[in-house]
Amino acid sequence: MGHNEILLRIEAAERRAAALILEARGVLAETKSGRRDVVTAYDRRVQELLIEELRAALPEAHFFCEEMNERERLDAGALFIIDPIDGTMNFVRGFHHSCISVAYAERGTVLAAAVYNPYLDEMFSALRGGGAFLNARPIRVSGDTLANSVVCFGTSPYRPDLADETFALARLAFENSLDVRREGTAALDLCSVAAGRELELSLWDYAAGALIVEEAGGVCRTVSGGELPYSADKSGVAAGPRAVLEEFLRLTEAKG
Ligand code: IPD
Repeated sequence: MGHNEILLRIEAAERRAAALILEARGVLAETKSGRRDVVTAYDRRVQELLIEELRAALPEAHFFCEEMNERERLDAGALFIIDPIDGTMNFVRGFHHSCISVAYAERGTVLAAAVYNPYLDEMFSALRGGGAFLNARPIRVSGDTLANSVVCFGTSPYRPDLADETFALARLAFENSLDVRREGTAALDLCSVAAGRELELSLWDYAAGALIVEEAGGVCRTVSGGELPYSADKSGVAAGPRAVLEEFLRLTEAKG
């Protein structure tokens, strides 16, 4: 099956699964690694539906999903990387800003990605080498400078040991831009293609969003400016238009 067809199947599965999110009532949160790391029955149901649909589309595919205990190899020949609800804390609190994130990779290279915000009916998508789109219309990163940007950042809530460094960077971003935002979903932060960084994210948080940023003409890096890893399941992520990101990385280096 061609990558374009795979992308269409991902989008169709996400739209079906989105109904579960929009119809959710009486959402109960269970904790995972700590009190800030929560999961709901809806995360599991969305994930099950996505796996069922994508397995039917591509029976040979492997899966690397947030709500799965046995995760498969990241270098598989055909792999779906899934965050069923990115922004689970927002979802639990009734703050309508969450999304479904799915990336399709072959041997560690993400080739197709779709991030769907069901509340706004916004489908961000990308095919490697084929550009990035919002509801089928091409998108590009902005040409603004850092001083004229609004910077999204994430707090790495499951790593309180990173809080000093996280908020020092948020302050640096605030002092050098128009303002900062903390919106609670890394995948949508990436799709909004502002400059941002978070010190630790999981692969399912960034795999799809990173391809969308790159195909929109932006750049994704680790927090020290290196290539983003797809062979590890966690990384810091910094993203934005190239000039803005380079300026921000220079500022953080200068700060030591
Ligand atoms: C979380 C969100 C959040 C980010 C966390 C992620 P989840 O994903 O993307 O914005 O700060 O690091 O883990 O747990 O809601 O899928």
